[in-house]
Amino acid sequence: MIFEVFEQQFEALLEEKSRKYPNSSDYLRHSLLRSIATQIELMLARLRTEINKDDAYWENYEQVVSDVLSVMEVKSDELLSLEASDLPHGVRDFKTIKEKLYDTTAYPSQEHLYYRNFAPALERLRFISKHLKKLDESDIQFCDLGFGPGVLTQFILEEKPTWTACGVDISPECVRYAEKLMKLKGVNERVQFTTGDVRNLPYADNTFDLVLAMEVLEHIPDPLKGLLEVVRVLKPGGYAITSIPVQLPVPMHLYVPQNPREVLNLYERANLEVLDFSAKEFRIETGPFIATFALSVKV
Ligand SMILES: C[S@@+](CC[C@H](N)C(=O)[O-])C[C@H]1O[C@@H](n2cnc3c(N)ncnc32)[C@H](O)[C@@H]1O
Repeated sequence: MIFEVFEQQFEALLEEKSRKYPNSSDYLRHSLLRSIATQIELMLARLRTEINKDDAYWENYEQVVSDVLSVMEVKSDELLSLEASDLPHGVRDFKTIKEKLYDTTAYPSQEHLYYRNFAPALERLRFISKHLKKLDESDIQFCDLGFGPGVLTQFILEEKPTWTACGVDISPECVRYAEKLMKLKGVNERVQFTTGDVRNLPYADNTFDLVLAMEVLEHIPDPLKGLLEVVRVLKPGGYAITSIPVQLPVPMHLYVPQNPREVLNLYERANLEVLDFSAKEFRIETGPFIATFALSVKV
């Protein structure tokens, strides 16, 4: 809403009552104006904090926004007017979440935009990067489960120019988006994305050297089922890199572990040997939560 429209509507709403109740409506006007001033100050402070970030931050921001605009083939204002639909209040079933969220055109672009500055998303890249450095085999085939916009697949393919990838996501919109992103980045010849469910993967047993399941297992009510599929498609001695948030009960999370120990139990039950586990607290608008990251091996 532009400011002039806001001002007109604000005055129009108050006008009628002002005639009949001059003191009350005048008081209401000033108290609202004061709240508006406070909000504007908060927004300015937020903008100042962003603007003062260093070049590395801004270069990443620029790259992500430019990639999203290219894939979506829109300008910034058009991108902002595309919004993934809000989930109806209290919705907790997978079918509705898929239909109302994952299957919307805007969803993958919004997930991609997290990578411009959202600390938990950037931490996913850091955790993967730390372990990629140790994997020096040249002909690895990895699989990215619930790849969303495809950012993590892209990152690995760029870091490892001889590796190839597969991926499965429940959302055809994510498949379309990620395929376009791979093309934009010139890595599309090395990747095969498919629409599918992490609980029933279209791959043979013992196929992959590395499987990624980042921020996807909490989206199903039965995460062990997904994790057992991860183990099934991994070669013996193959690695799994997974991340599962703790105490983050947003509507699309159908599994909400209460502590990192619960997540570790899940890996144990799936017969994965955890080699590295990190639990890091982040503060977001809805409050604090713990992001957990694991590197495990199929024994
Ligand atoms: C929060 S996003 C994570 C995207 C990506 N892994 C990342 O970390 O950037 C979750 C993704 O999981 C996908 N997803 C949800 N349930 C799924 C399921 N049962 N099987 C496969 N993908 C699923 C969604 O479509 C979405 O793209």
